[in-house]
Amino acid sequence: MRHSAIYPGTFDPLTLGHYDLMERASGIFDRVIVAVAENSRKQTLFTVDERVDMARRATQKLSNVMVKSFSGLLIDFAQEQKIHVLVRGIRAFSDFEYEFQMALTNRKLAPGIETLFLMPKEAYSYISSSTVREVAERGGDLHGFVPASLVATIRRKCLGRL
Ligand code: COA
Repeated sequence: MRHSAIYPGTFDPLTLGHYDLMERASGIFDRVIVAVAENSRKQTLFTVDERVDMARRATQKLSNVMVKSFSGLLIDFAQEQKIHVLVRGIRAFSDFEYEFQMALTNRKLAPGIETLFLMPKEAYSYISSSTVREVAERGGDLHGFVPASLVATIRRKCLGRL
């Protein structure tokens, strides 16, 4: 599909920076699939079902965004969905090397698939999933880091109460 894109990630958990990217992509493409990686290289705190559920709740108001999980290679998922555009965020220069490597690996594996980079709002450029987990585990206030609708869920999980 020509005007569709996939926004992949681990989303462990989803942050306001991720949400900002989803909103931007939904304004550019007719349809956006948020693809939650089931088995990314990371040992995740949240299960894939929890991460999918958080993404669905956060994107409820974005009518052209849907959330799916995937396992295996991202390019295989993209080909299954017949989508040839991947969207990723670059928050700062430090993201560049990792993103560059991933985009070129994907391009080598599937030359027809392009990666487009968007920059999240600068106010979110320092937020990461691991700092969110750290703040939550120590009982810190998560407002301003993650969508308000996810604050209680993330807090409970990080405090071991979910
Ligand atoms: N706002 C806030 N944080 C952001 C962000 C943004 N816009 N963009 C990236 N991040 C942060 C995340 O918070 C996360 O932080 P952490 O390192 O503290 O956990 C980190 O950057 C990256 O996480 P995320 O955005 O969830 O994506 P990812 O890098 O974990 O996703 C996959 C990687 C899933 C896309 C990739 O591993 C993949 O495609 N896996 C499938 C296997 C495959 O095809 N491999 C071949 C390609 S190399």
